[in-house]
Amino acid sequence: MDITAIWRPEYSVGHQEIDAQHKYLFELWIMLNSIKDQQDNHLSLEQALLSLVDYVEIHFADEEKYLQAHPEFDRHRQIHAVFLAQCKTFTEQFQKGSLDTHTVVDFLRSWLIEHIVETDIRYFKEI
Ligand SMILES: [Fe+2]
Repeated sequence: MDITAIWRPEYSVGHQEIDAQHKYLFELWIMLNSIKDQQDNHLSLEQALLSLVDYVEIHFADEEKYLQAHPEFDRHRQIHAVFLAQCKTFTEQFQKGSLDTHTVVDFLRSWLIEHIVETDIRYFKEI
């Protein structure tokens, strides 16, 4: 699978830097997805999960810089914070061996797409 299998033009928020970051998030997700079945490869799966979560954090900070002027900015920041807290829980569960990787990988993809389409696009349009 490559980025063209996931990314669609309707995911564009109309901001070049943020679109590039969203694409990179999907690239990291593709990497995580491609190694999720390798049960013997615990370390690289952990690495892929941590890479995605780390980059989500960087990306949210950048996105929030551009969206500060939006009247509902606090709500958007709250959505990001809740998702990051959820991701931290995933990495802790993973380290304890109690994470259902398939469920989480599917959740991450759905969350990213829904968040971009239902929240990011509207916010970027309204600032
Ligand atoms: Fe966002």
